[in-house]
Amino acid sequence: MCSIIGYSGDDNAAPIIVKGLRRMEYRGYDSVGVATESNNRIELKKGVGKVEKVNSEVHLENLPGKIGIGHTRWATHGKVTEANAHPHSSNSGKIAIVHNGIIENFEKLKDDLKKEGYDFQSETDSEVIANLLQKNYEISKNVKDTMIKTISELRGHYSFIAMFDNGQLAAARFHEPLIIGVGEKNYFLSSDVLGFIEQTDDVIYIDNGNFVLIDQDKMQILDFNGKEIKHQITKVSKEFADVYKGDYAHFTLKEISEQSETIFRAGENTKEAIKEVADLLKHAKNIYFTGSGTSYNASLIAKYLLSKYAKIKTESIISSELQFSPDSIEPNSILIALSQSGESADVLEAVNIAKKTNCKIISIINSLTSTLARESDIVIGMNCGPEIGVAATKSFTSQLIILYKIIQELTDGKVEINFEEISSSISKILEEHNNIKKIANKIKEISDIYVLGRGIHYPIAIESALKIKELTYIHAEGIAGGELKHGPLALMDSNVFVIIINPEDSTYQDTLTSAREIKARGAKIIGISNKNSDMYDFWIKIPKANELTYPISETIPIQLLSYYAALEKDTDPDYPRNLAKSVTVK
Ligand code: AGP
Repeated sequence: MCSIIGYSGDDNAAPIIVKGLRRMEYRGYDSVGVATESNNRIELKKGVGKVEKVNSEVHLENLPGKIGIGHTRWATHGKVTEANAHPHSSNSGKIAIVHNGIIENFEKLKDDLKKEGYDFQSETDSEVIANLLQKNYEISKNVKDTMIKTISELRGHYSFIAMFDNGQLAAARFHEPLIIGVGEKNYFLSSDVLGFIEQTDDVIYIDNGNFVLIDQDKMQILDFNGKEIKHQITKVSKEFADVYKGDYAHFTLKEISEQSETIFRAGENTKEAIKEVADLLKHAKNIYFTGSGTSYNASLIAKYLLSKYAKIKTESIISSELQFSPDSIEPNSILIALSQSGESADVLEAVNIAKKTNCKIISIINSLTSTLARESDIVIGMNCGPEIGVAATKSFTSQLIILYKIIQELTDGKVEINFEEISSSISKILEEHNNIKKIANKIKEISDIYVLGRGIHYPIAIESALKIKELTYIHAEGIAGGELKHGPLALMDSNVFVIIINPEDSTYQDTLTSAREIKARGAKIIGISNKNSDMYDFWIKIPKANELTYPISETIPIQLLSYYAALEKDTDPDYPRNLAKSVTVK
């Protein structure tokens, strides 16, 4: 959720940290701060808003010193205020910390520290780490022992970086990501390789339950008992560096537009894994999909298509729900986890539960360096490049393409998929942008939008509603066409817009009947179809395709519609309010 970064080296720390924070802002962006050490003094600046804004107001980049830490926040404990923004400094001002995650026992720790005379400036759980470190440091006078003692007192999920006024950095990882970047004369600590990729592609992935000490050019990794751990430096792909918008106004538009090309890359970096997975699925007794948000919606399509085209029955489970019914997974089954980031805490938790009953974990992930990748037996890569916009766009279509490839394998090529045709359909829909822009203008004042589809188009309706909510803040709901008269019809009147997903396939006539019922109640209809109808007030044309590939063609216009409606409403499509790209807290 939040991003944390630390730097120790020969260059001025603050500009490097600010640059890293800009790249990691997708993780959380309600407030930002930087602290540096110079001449045994810690200086700190922070503020509410995104990096660009706060930096222009308080000049984070001008902080002195060659050692520093930084943070962008996604609020969990306490409102979005300057006081709650990180870094937090200890009462003595001799230690500052940045934290990502949740300290579950912070209230008890805070009460105990207050009794010992410590003051607190924020409502956050994080501030206790700073004061706990101070308390333990005053006793041990040694950073290593201070870390061991402090970590032993913390409960929850966290990664944090602490900076001491003697210029030492210390960082710990417990169920939240933390990576070391190793430069020629410097070290980086970060939640994500994007925090330092421009400086170095040599990284060390810190294992869960380990901590790091950096003192100038000396770096050590230790387990929580203080035993030194051997580490391995690995190279990350430079492709991560491709995180600029280029000529596009927003990442979201760039990522929507890339799809005619990214669909060719899906799974291409892990071809053997697709074959292996298909083979496993043929013989598996029980197969479950899991994911959150858009990735879960992709799993609904997977369930439908695998059943229809490969005669394989599967179940889809919302990751955050599995903890309440762990027995719904049979032991020794296959769990396929879908996740763009590979860092969603809910997905990791579901994987954990499945592992306890000896399930094999297959994951379909964009970030092959993620925690989920390391927790999985087999990994298939979406390979669509970094997705920065908070709304999942190209990762969704890449997930579908991987699914198609698995179906092709399962049916020994009997189900043929023409990827060239899919790509050309996407390009044609992208050319419809002027028409879609005009429709976006019509929906900007609307308070409720319903998206209706039947069969394979129903999960697309659900995904479409999610996109509309996220990007436009308009209430939206996906409806299975047949369910209309079982309830939602009561909501239809002239204040409502309904998007009807209605390509000419087996669902066409029934969906047109739904459109008629809706129109009779005065609601406005946007039809997404290859064929126009007088039922539609607005028509978004998609090329004729087949049932397998329509889900992709239908998704693109709704992504564009949501994007343009966000612009009409003057909201930031890349960084919707209250959301973060990787939801690393439960
Ligand atoms: C989608 O637009 C959302 N931003 C969100 O639902 C997302 O899909 C979800 O948080 C899962 O993320 P993941 O794929 O990285 O696990």
